[in-house]
Amino acid sequence: MENIILKIINLNAYYGSQKVLKNVNLEIYENRVTTILGPSGCGKTTLIRCINRLHELSPGGRIEGHILLKDEDLYQIEPMLVRQKIGMVFQKPNPFPTMTIYDNVIAGYILSGIKLSKEEKDKIVEESLIKSGLWDEVKESLFKRGTFLSGGQQQRLCIARALAMKPEILLLDEPTSALDPVATSIIEELIIELKKSVTTVLVTHNIGQAGRVSDYTAFFYLGELIEFGKTTEMFTVPRSKKTEEYLIGKIG
Ligand SMILES: Nc1ncnc2c1ncn2[C@@H]1O[C@H](COP(=O)(O)OP(=O)(O)OP(=O)(O)O)[C@@H](O)[C@H]1O
Ligand SMILES: [Mg+2]
Repeated sequence: MENIILKIINLNAYYGSQKVLKNVNLEIYENRVTTILGPSGCGKTTLIRCINRLHELSPGGRIEGHILLKDEDLYQIEPMLVRQKIGMVFQKPNPFPTMTIYDNVIAGYILSGIKLSKEEKDKIVEESLIKSGLWDEVKESLFKRGTFLSGGQQQRLCIARALAMKPEILLLDEPTSALDPVATSIIEELIIELKKSVTTVLVTHNIGQAGRVSDYTAFFYLGELIEFGKTTEMFTVPRSKKTEEYLIGKIG
């Protein structure tokens, strides 16, 4: 049984007069991993930036349509609140360079002015680092800067920072494209493990990664959603010719 957590309804997204997402309708299932797949420039990043309301901060960025999180219209509430409910991790690990590992994890609270007791902070830091699989590696060095960590560790620190806000949805934009194969497979394992506690939307170029970690895949081409379905089904019997061409490497 699948529960719908997020509904994207008739979504158009623009940069100025350029329309880059065209009437997208997509439902995201709770506690599942959904891959957003498609060639460069098809609108993957724009789509997830619409979901957490970052798109409107780009010059000329605007949308039409609706995005509902559990039936609540995300465009009717405060953008800051949306970004707490929907966390994001970017392609390049970006821990705050002047902050300690500890402060990086609770950075969302610090930056939004939410006051926590020492006990609450300690608990959130430990829980989030355990969830992101980093606790054992950093528990002795919580007060060192996050930038001392390896690239893969930094990316898991960014995942911990997102999880610390207890988001309903985690958006990952090509989270392993700057990492080596070992760090990549650790993060892939983590994404699978996190399904117990969070819904994940993963943008990736890597068809193998989509196959390994995702339950559902949405294939985009030139701003349109071409096909959505179970990853295993789409990868064995794609319904659309375009999806098939992409999967066999003819396009993108
Ligand atoms: N800040 C911006 N201003 C104007 N146009 C933009 C901006 N960012 C992206 N675009 C355009 O919007 C379209 C979709 O871009 P987007 O970054 O969402 O694609 P993508 O699928 O994430 O690509 P990639 O796989 O290369 O990351 C492209 O045509 C791109 O040139
Ligand atoms: Mg992108």
